Amino acid sequence: MSLAVALTRASEGVAAPLVTVEVHLSGGLPGTSIVGLPEAAVREARDRVRVAIQNTQFEYPARRVTVNLAPAELPKNGGRFDLAIALGILAAGGQLPRESLQGCEFLGELALSGELRPVPGVLPALLRARGGRRCIIVPQANADEAGLLGDIDVRVARTLAEVCAHLRGAEPLPPPQPTPAPRASGALPDLADVRGQLGARRALEIAAVGGHHLLLIGPPGTGKSMLAQRLPGILPPLTDAEAIEACAVRSAAGEPFDIHAWHQRPYRAPHHTASGVALVGGGSHPRPGEISLAHHGVLFLDELPEFDRHVLEVLREPLESGHIVISRAAHQAKFPARFQLVAAMNPCPCGYAGDPGGRCHCTPDSIARYRGRISGPLLDRIDILCEVPRVPLAELNAERGATDEASATVRARVTNARSVAMQRAGKPNGLLGTREIERDCALGPAERTLLERALDKLGLSARAYHRVLRVARSIADLAGTDRIAREHLAEAIQYRRADAASTAR
Ligand SMILES: Nc1ncnc2c1ncn2[C@@H]1O[C@H](COP(=O)(O)OP(=O)(O)OP(=O)(O)O)[C@@H](O)[C@H]1O
Ligand SMILES: [Mg+2]
Repeated sequence: MSLAVALTRASEGVAAPLVTVEVHLSGGLPGTSIVGLPEAAVREARDRVRVAIQNTQFEYPARRVTVNLAPAELPKNGGRFDLAIALGILAAGGQLPRESLQGCEFLGELALSGELRPVPGVLPALLRARGGRRCIIVPQANADEAGLLGDIDVRVARTLAEVCAHLRGAEPLPPPQPTPAPRASGALPDLADVRGQLGARRALEIAAVGGHHLLLIGPPGTGKSMLAQRLPGILPPLTDAEAIEACAVRSAAGEPFDIHAWHQRPYRAPHHTASGVALVGGGSHPRPGEISLAHHGVLFLDELPEFDRHVLEVLREPLESGHIVISRAAHQAKFPARFQLVAAMNPCPCGYAGDPGGRCHCTPDSIARYRGRISGPLLDRIDILCEVPRVPLAELNAERGATDEASATVRARVTNARSVAMQRAGKPNGLLGTREIERDCALGPAERTLLERALDKLGLSARAYHRVLRVARSIADLAGTDRIAREHLAEAIQYRRADAASTAR
């Protein structure tokens, strides 16, 4: 029987389900058909594969060729199946030993010349194949990404001919070079550039310790965007596993792999005109959006009230769960989205409410409408609300002072405090669940009364209660104390004052 089987992987979210390519040759009029829910690019594989086989000095079978991609219900997209289809056809026609395809998975798009072109989603495929015993063959152009995982048998190839030589045992393919150790992230913007803003610096540091979501509120030009850009530089370094997860999302999105920056914390700052799909992901073949590309990193939403309200509402789920599920008629895709949100906004439409210059002429009504664009439930999920007032001109022009600390200094403190939290609970304080809060954020009777009174006075929700405790935990960790003291709690409460002001509208 002229049947051959080759294995490959589809790309579905950051998952990479196994796809079996079955090729059958039979009598009848010569021709090729591909079945198994192929989309346009996969149907076109017919022509690419035929020419690539001919240009590799093989013969394309002059018979009826049926290619089946299983499982049939999984939609298949892109040129990633080309290599497996070509090898299946060669094996079915007896030009390659059939058993040589066993024990391997193949990924790669074919050029007409027989060269292999890179495909997106190589890292997710390797992560899924890891632990199995198969050898994975990928295009040389994906080698940087393929070298990230040390514990899997990966081989890289430039052409279809090289893959065939490997399978025949004539010339084994080389493994990719291991990815070099990450370099220190020197290029990030530094906190030393920011003058004054002690309150906001402190809030940024606490947010970094606990991975707390942060909202900066202040008039134009006070340094909100500057501060947000400097958060990645004070966060603790990514672990290898986190960096690889973040790379897998970028790979699934088809972003090029940067061998020098793969270990850097993601920082994404989508514009407020970005579409819902660009922000949260989606499309007919679901792709990750900005919130997933910010996985393990920072998502900066500047001018928060200008974002489409519906899009902001969609953020509520991933803010709590750390992932997003995108449902399409045919199937669902789940993307990770454990990002730290930093948002910035002006206090009113003109931007100058509360400014001592008396420049603001916004009516209370228009201010209320402006702030109302951010819903209570969303605000409720942001742990730290921080006002960023105008810096006096003299201070802006001054030389760098002792309080204008550099990012490296702050990062050392943050990393210390974060490791205390990791040892205690295995996660940053911002992710503590209710039960963990009860265990790790216990208050003395006096502190409990203080908190209850304050929340009552500010009219805040039960969720805010937990937020305050998580932030207080981070403040105490930064201070190096086990117990949450009165001053830690008082500072944490103060980060909800702006919340009270806006809900009082
Ligand atoms: N505290 C500061 N220290 C040093 N430079 C500052 C500070 N605040 C503002 N600047 C200067 O002002 C510019 C604008 O700052 P930035 O973009 O961060 O303001 P913003 O608060 O985000 O304003 P907007 O509300 O208009 O977005 C910066 O590029 C910087 O040159
Ligand atoms: Mg700005």
